[in-house]
Amino acid sequence: MEKAVISGTGLYTPPHTIGNDELVAAFNAFVTNYNEAHREKIEAGEIEPLLASSAEFIVKASGIHNRRVMDKSGILDPNTMCPRLSPRANEELSIQAEISVLAAKDALAAANKTASEVDAVLVACSNMQRAYPAMAVEVQNALGIDGFGFDMNVACSSATFGIQTGVDMLRSGSARCVLMVNPEICSAHLNFRDRDSHFIFGDVCTAVVMEDADRCEAEGAFQVLGTKLKTQFSNNIRNNFGFLNRTEDPNDADQADKLFMQQGRRVFKEVTPMVADTIASHLKSLGLTVEKIKRFWLHQANLSMNQLIIRKLLGREPRPSEAPVILDEYANTSSAGSIIAFHNRKDDLQPGDLGVICSFGAGYSVGSVVVRKVSP
Ligand code: COA
Repeated sequence: MEKAVISGTGLYTPPHTIGNDELVAAFNAFVTNYNEAHREKIEAGEIEPLLASSAEFIVKASGIHNRRVMDKSGILDPNTMCPRLSPRANEELSIQAEISVLAAKDALAAANKTASEVDAVLVACSNMQRAYPAMAVEVQNALGIDGFGFDMNVACSSATFGIQTGVDMLRSGSARCVLMVNPEICSAHLNFRDRDSHFIFGDVCTAVVMEDADRCEAEGAFQVLGTKLKTQFSNNIRNNFGFLNRTEDPNDADQADKLFMQQGRRVFKEVTPMVADTIASHLKSLGLTVEKIKRFWLHQANLSMNQLIIRKLLGREPRPSEAPVILDEYANTSSAGSIIAFHNRKDDLQPGDLGVICSFGAGYSVGSVVVRKVSP
């Protein structure tokens, strides 16, 4: 294998949209109900009242206006505040596999590939709906792919780590065409009762086809010039959900630590330089300078964070075309964010143009993928 290319990308967008105003209205109804139910204790100074959220804060702090979700009604019901997704029989396609198949079909069509030409399937995302069998094997089965598949989780960096894994398979010869999907149903791990984070996430599924360049028959393919991964342990983004939960405290009624938790300020401060350093050193190792990069498809968690990363790299404000923003409409979709940006904002680049796909998040983890457009 001489060169690995990304020959196609795909996107599944869930049916429901929630704007900040309706999300805040549901949250504030919950706050009013809670404070009313606990009025005596609040008045006695035994517990603090909950504070209201605001749409202005959300836009200012994050840049998010809307998020797409699998189920809107459960999230917006102040008594539920959680998506409600119907259980499925073991014989039915599971929900994460279903959205994976939809995004995968989109990516395979873009790559001009049939499922029979794929050798390996990676499901790379932040949350798996079950321990086993691997969803990747279910997706493989649903698409009729002969080969192998496995799931991998590196939280928000799952997709870039998945790209390196796929490219490594191509390099080693263990596969000649790899399908990676990122079914992120983030609304199911988000605590919609937590004022600090209730607005952060949305749902989506992205897909990427990687293959040997000499087999590529797609238009608009991108050669992967290099990948660089970095991890560094931190408790500042954490989710304690896991199979040992049932062996632990049976009286733990709160369960808040079994959902997404973060120290947002610390994450912002610590991850931003880590991302800028990782991209800069990656480009240097490839003999490239930041000025040569036409586009940065960054992880979509926070607008200010992305602007700061680009300022650190370029020493100036980014032009809108340099670092596309999709989090205003999709919110943080974990590992899928940088891939949505890549999917939606790559077609105008010209052969020879260079770009960086970069994710970052829990772990901490950073993944940088440097690509060059090879075909119009
Ligand atoms: N509505 C209104 N006010 C709110 C609020 C809400 N929903 N949530 C928090 N506030 C208030 C706080 O109480 C605080 O008030 P104070 O100044 O009186 O103490 C103020 O707004 C600032 O809160 P803070 O949490 O410091 O906001 P922030 O500017 O750091 O923005 C994040 C919060 C989460 C958007 C931001 O820190 C972030 O995006 N960090 C990076 C997150 C990230 O990338 N995570 C990766 C996940 S994969």
